[in-house]
Amino acid sequence: MSHSPTHTTTPEKEASRYSKRNILRSERMYGTGFNSSGGTESIEFFCQDVPLAQGMSVLDIGCGSGGTAFYFAEKYNATVVGMDYAADAIALSQDRLREQSHLPITFEQGDIQTTDLGRDRFDLIWCRDVFIYLQDKSKGWRNIYNALKPGGYFVYSDFCKGDSNLSPEFREHLEMCNYHAWTIAQSCDLMREIGFEVVDSKNLSLWLAENFQADLHKLEQNREAFLQEFGEEEYQHLTSRWQVKIRYCQQDDLVQGLIIATKREFEIS
Ligand SMILES: C[S@@+](CC[C@H](N)C(=O)[O-])C[C@H]1O[C@@H](n2cnc3c(N)ncnc32)[C@H](O)[C@@H]1O
Repeated sequence: MSHSPTHTTTPEKEASRYSKRNILRSERMYGTGFNSSGGTESIEFFCQDVPLAQGMSVLDIGCGSGGTAFYFAEKYNATVVGMDYAADAIALSQDRLREQSHLPITFEQGDIQTTDLGRDRFDLIWCRDVFIYLQDKSKGWRNIYNALKPGGYFVYSDFCKGDSNLSPEFREHLEMCNYHAWTIAQSCDLMREIGFEVVDSKNLSLWLAENFQADLHKLEQNREAFLQEFGEEEYQHLTSRWQVKIRYCQQDDLVQGLIIATKREFEIS
């Protein structure tokens, strides 16, 4: 990577970003169960070329407040494990699961880099907007590779960086937030090295910019309720942060990467 952040981050630091209050505040923009743009439509969009079967086993890494886990369990009768490092995210998901306890979901606290996920367990592993927090992506991706069944799919989407000429402002932003954004190509290369077959990769910056616009719109529509709970200062803070992020997408600094990868049925010797 050309950009090497001087700050290091730890899962402990990251978990404090995802306090219950912060999660609920983000849900005002993203919708209940989501801490990323696009809600259930984004799941359908990302999985449009992925074979999904009723009764499949799913692992949702960095599940946040559980929207994706609920989606797979409800729509595909999937047995789902949702895992997240943040205790508040897991507690909130478990509270919501109590209201739908017939669903075969378990939510577990864990760090993707160190939690033993077992071998050949899951038909589908989903991971959205998590690895930007990790400087060393190899441990987590290896863990995911091992846990995927041969023939299973890894649907990975994350904030990436553009291929060239990042603006100084964006570089500073990455540094300040302790983000470790890679290009899509760098991510695909390491996944292949680990053993994945990358079947598709896409740059979804325009999609992301449109979704950020939609988030802003939702926030404006819910302004009064938001102000009552979080106040004017946080409203202004979120609005200006989103406007900046939209600009980063338009400048090709910030890229939503989508990578669809599989674990081959047979190892190539
Ligand atoms: C931007 S949120 C996305 C949440 C969810 N994937 C979604 O789309 O709504 C990032 C999530 O990754 C989790 N996370 C960050 N580092 C992690 C790690 N090392 N292991 C597991 N989860 C992690 C955070 O706690 C947070 O819930």
